[in-house]
Amino acid sequence: MEIYRSSNLSNLGKMAFICLDVRCLCIFLLCKAFGYTLSSSMEIKVNPPQDFEIVDPGYLGYLYLQWQPPLAVDNFKECTIEYELKYRNVDSERWKTIVTKNLHYKDGFDLNKGVEAKIHTLLSTHCTNGSEVRSSWSEATYWKSEPGSLETKIQDMDCVYYNWQYLLCSWKPGIGVHFDTNYTLFYWYEGLDNVLQCADYIKENGKNIGCRFPNLESSDYKDFFICVNGSSESNPIRSSYFIFELQNIVKPLPPDYLSLTVKNSFEINLKWSTPKGPIPARCFIYEILFTEADNSWMTHTVENEMHITRTLNESQELCFLVRSKVNIYCSDDGIWSEWSDERCWEGDGQKETWIFFMIPLGLISSFVLLLTCLLLHKQKALLKSIFHMKKEVFSHQETLF
Ligand SMILES: *[C@@H]1O[C@H](CO)[C@@H](O)[C@H](O)[C@H]1NC(C)=O
Ligand SMILES: *[C@@H]1O[C@H](CO)[C@@H](O)[C@H](O)[C@H]1NC(C)=O
Ligand SMILES: *[C@@H]1O[C@H](CO)[C@@H](O)[C@H](O)[C@H]1NC(C)=O
Repeated sequence: MEIYRSSNLSNLGKMAFICLDVRCLCIFLLCKAFGYTLSSSMEIKVNPPQDFEIVDPGYLGYLYLQWQPPLAVDNFKECTIEYELKYRNVDSERWKTIVTKNLHYKDGFDLNKGVEAKIHTLLSTHCTNGSEVRSSWSEATYWKSEPGSLETKIQDMDCVYYNWQYLLCSWKPGIGVHFDTNYTLFYWYEGLDNVLQCADYIKENGKNIGCRFPNLESSDYKDFFICVNGSSESNPIRSSYFIFELQNIVKPLPPDYLSLTVKNSFEINLKWSTPKGPIPARCFIYEILFTEADNSWMTHTVENEMHITRTLNESQELCFLVRSKVNIYCSDDGIWSEWSDERCWEGDGQKETWIFFMIPLGLISSFVLLLTCLLLHKQKALLKSIFHMKKEVFSHQETLF
């Protein structure tokens, strides 16, 4: 499951976590094995990083955490100095932890809430006779103060990435906001030079209630930041922030060209075609709703075909329909498509369906034949009249001479 996702660059962060875990384990084991060295290095001390701060470049939630090397770092010339950084949104339970040699780190945060972060200096074990030395923590917080009461925020924000192609978001106005209130949507993701405003709003009574996004190039597998703020003459409007990854809100098209065939009177083969569009075939999971007489049951598959056995002998009607979703190999989440049209097999009445096909086919071909004859006839008449005309002109010229 991770193979596909790890190949993506944006997931390097996740891999860093795994590495970190392994590293922690190694350090732990080392400390255990050489426990006696702990006391000998008790004297070694290092200062925390300086000027630790959280900077908001205005990318709607993408923040920079940055710091300077600790004081008196020259004492550890042969040591590699690393920093252990922990950060989170204020109300979340888990800290994200990063170990880095750099003096900055960037990540996405939910700006509806505050952000807190802490960092300390690490001295690697090889220059401290086996024990890891850490400084005390430097701490920083960030809270984007927003005007306006909570009720003025938009409600029920809903964003769907249709067929991995068209992003559409919609919302409802805040409760009890003044009539003149209008909302505006801004968005940003890594790769855009600056924050963009929605260029194609969906409107209701002249007010913006949604946005149709343009073609978003290389925007999946990374944080997509949205801010919906607003203005009103009478009172300030509170902004709302959203972060998602586009591949997790994909709603595909339903599968089509369903076929149901019965072999040996009880082997049933269901087949359908992969929905059209940019989503690779390996990214789908299908849900099949199968009906046999009065029984219905559901099942899933990642193939676009399925073999089942007929359980009731005398059941004359077998039907199924399918819907699709992006599977766990390509995203963490997804939205089911609409159901496809239903496809049925009606017992041995297949001969009748054959006739049903033949009658319109016969009608159409005789119509085409008739049309061709008519056209040919017309053309003949036309040629004849042209010939006559030429003849007339010719004889007219003859009389002139
Ligand atoms: C590490 O241990 C060696 C000898 O065991 C000692 O000479 C050295 O001073 C120690 N270094 C530190 C930083 O404690
Ligand atoms: C809404 O947010 C955008 C992007 O941060 C900002 O440029 C704009 O001034 C804001 N509008 C209002 C009315 O606050
Ligand atoms: C279905 O019925 C036929 C006779 O009508 C019988 O020969 C056949 O074995 C039955 N099949 C099953 C699966 O019950």
